[in-house]
Parts: sequence; structure tokens; C-alpha cells
Amino acid sequence: MIIKPRGTMDIMPEDTPLWQYVEEKAREISNTHGFGEIRFPTFEQTELFARGVGDTTDVVQKEMYTFFDKDNRSMTLRPEGTASIARSIVENGRCSDAMPLKLYYLISCFRYEKPASGRYREFYQYGVEMYGSESAASDASVIALADSYVKSLGITDYSLEINSIGCKECRPHYKKALTDYYTANYDTLCDTCKTRLKTNPLRILDCKNPECAHLAKDAPKTLDYLCENCTSHMKTVEDSLKSMGITYKVDTGIVRGLDYYTRTVFEIIGPGEPDKDGNVRRLALGGGGRYDGLVEEIGGPKLPGVGFAMGLSRLIIALQMSGKELPSKKKPVLYIASLGTNAQIQALGIVNKLRNAGIYAECDLVGRSLKAQMKYADKIGAEFTAIIGDNELENGKAILKNMATSEQTEVEIKALADFFKNR
Ligand code: HAM
Repeated sequence: MIIKPRGTMDIMPEDTPLWQYVEEKAREISNTHGFGEIRFPTFEQTELFARGVGDTTDVVQKEMYTFFDKDNRSMTLRPEGTASIARSIVENGRCSDAMPLKLYYLISCFRYEKPASGRYREFYQYGVEMYGSESAASDASVIALADSYVKSLGITDYSLEINSIGCKECRPHYKKALTDYYTANYDTLCDTCKTRLKTNPLRILDCKNPECAHLAKDAPKTLDYLCENCTSHMKTVEDSLKSMGITYKVDTGIVRGLDYYTRTVFEIIGPGEPDKDGNVRRLALGGGGRYDGLVEEIGGPKLPGVGFAMGLSRLIIALQMSGKELPSKKKPVLYIASLGTNAQIQALGIVNKLRNAGIYAECDLVGRSLKAQMKYADKIGAEFTAIIGDNELENGKAILKNMATSEQTEVEIKALADFFKNR
């Protein structure tokens, strides 16, 4: 048997209502906050991600699905949306639009990661990007949107964690302090981090190797190396979050795994799930931050930006853990069981009329016996059933049975749509 590629998912109709729920809420909240939807290619020239996301990041170095097309051009399935959107607004001449330019997206992304609970190779993101404002107010308003979205889904067990990783003025001082710290602890570093020490010491802070993770605890903290402007930016972000009544924590350990970030970075950390060894792993439901150099980096004008993306499968895990009643597949209001071929044909006509009136009804399409039809109606959770035979067709009346209460009501067949609409 041919099976799906490792780290991908099939989502079945009984589960899609939950996906539709998180997607619809994303659309709803994006509209309320004035973000318009952008759609863009699933694959891009590899160079875009190498330059945008950063060629020393794990995403670019280890996780990209890269292939050569028939013209021998290097292409990559998008590992995220931010770099593609930066490319798209430059290419479509949107950098001189009235600012801020506010965009949202619901996309699939591809990363060659080791699959685990909430970690896939093809996964889905809801993200937003706001361009054209350097102000801390735009950071705070994007963070507020992320926070409201998670709340609007009904997820309460999460924490919003923020940090600042400085700008091109102060980052070099921080990098120097990190390089000094890790050079003094060189022998403890894993082989990858020994290389990272030369190429991008910030990435060592993300390393999952236990020894490197242990060293990271005492590493210099970004906030101690911020320049005056970055310190004041961070303070205004915090003051704005407080004024909006948003609960957050400052976590100096958040540096994010992508290279384009400047100043504000944040993550929304969800509830913990025990792994097979019983260790509780808290998944990042989403993350984002400011990226003032990205558009220039990929060849566009100077244009600041801030945004975030949420992992839909992780939001779904958090919802499933919340104990909240979850959306499920729609159940028919009425199942019409039929006796004989003529009744089956007439039932089809009645059901079609009801469906055209926006009422979800079902009838037999398989040729089941009456007993099997009633069993099936119960299985699919029909709210009412009606049995249609020659007598009912002659009288033009059907007896509706409420499946929960067994109460019976006689209704004119012609008036069924009105009955369901007006009840
Ligand atoms: P990211 O932190 O790489 O940021 O991904 C955002 C979210 O996508 C994560 O917090 C997680 O929920 C989900 N995610 C990431 N990788 C996987 C995976 N392998 N399986 C399932 N879910 C995953 C970005 O992608 C940035 N582009 C966010 C951003 C937008 N920053 C500014 N604007």
C-alpha cells in the first residue's frame, strides 16, 4: 500500500470542522483588525529564503524542501510566509501604498523536521504582517491581535512571552558578549554550535542539545545590551500592552530561529504535553516579531514590518486539551426514510427542496431496508426522521419524529421547509 509521506497529515471530515473553526476565527479577527488576505506561491526561488530567513538558520540549512525544476533553477517549498510576502509586496509595487499595509494569510508550509506531536513536515499557519510602521504601537497592536485570536478560540492555558533582540546598532555588542561567553565554554558546545559560534552565535541559544541548552541559561541576556532607542522601544511596547490589559511575561531566552528579526520578538506558548519519557513539552502555538531589514535584504526599499504566525495543528492540540466543547460535523435536521422506488424518488425531490432552502436533509441513496434506513438515520445523528410511503404521498402529509424526545408531529410535505425554518 502506498502511504502518505512522513510528517504529513490526512484530515478527515469528522476533524475538518475544528480546522474550519480555527480558520474562520482567523479570517473573522483579521477582518476586524483591518487585515486583507494575501495568497502567494507555494514555492519560490531558493535564494529568497536563503537571503530572507537567513542562510545560517536551521530552517535554511537543514529543513528546506529544495528541488531543481526542469530548467535547472533551484526552487524551495515555502518553509514560512514572511519572506514570500516581502517579495510579493516589492514585486507588486505595494511598498508605496498608504501605510500601514496589513496582510493576513492561511497557508501550508514545509520543513524537513523530525516529526513529533505538533511538529509536521507539511503544516499550516495563520499569519499576519503589518508593513510601514516603526512604532512600538504597531508591535503592540500585532501582539494584541495574536493574543485576542488565541483567546477568541477559547484557549486559556497559554502564556505570551516577549523580548527584544536589538537592532543593527546594538546587536553587534550583544553578539560579541555571546561569542566571548561561548568561546570560554567552547569544549562543552556540540559540533554544530562550534560552527555557529563563527557564523551566527545567536543561533546557539536555540540549540536543543542538553549541554548547549544548559549553557544558554547563564549566557548574556539581550536586554542588557540594548541601545537607548531599543530600550525605549521595548518600554513603549510593554506600556502599550499594559494599557490594553494584555498579560505578558518578558523572557530573555526568546531569540527566534529566523534571522530577519529586529527589536521585538514574541511567542505564545501553549499547554504542556508529556512526551514518551514523561517530560512535559510546551509547544509554541505561535511566534513573531519585528523585521525592519527584511524588505531591503531581499532587494526592496527600506520598509519596516512586524508580524506573527500561528501553527494551526498546535492550536487544535491546545483546543483538544482545553476540555472545551469542540465543533463537529454538521448533523442532518431531517432524514427521510422511504418505502419503495416511487417513495425514494419523491424523497429525493423533498430533500432537494429542503437543501435549496438551506436545510440539511438526507434520504436513502443506497437502497437500504426501512429498518436499516432508521438505523442509519440514528448513526448520522438526524434530529428528525420521517417515513414516506404511498399513503404519505397521497395525503401530502408526513409524520416527523423527534429522535431525542420521540415526539411526533404531522406536517404537510409542502410545508416542511417552513416548519424547519420557523421552529
Ligand atoms: P515560526 O516560529 O517558525 O515563525 O513558526 C510560527 C509557528 O508555526 C510556530 O510557533 C508553530 O506553531 C508553527 N510551526 C512551525 N514549525 C512547525 C512544524 N514543523 N509543525 C507544526 N507547526 C509548526 C515563522 O514562521 C515566522 N514567519 C512568523 C512571523 C511572521 N514572524 C513575523 N511574521
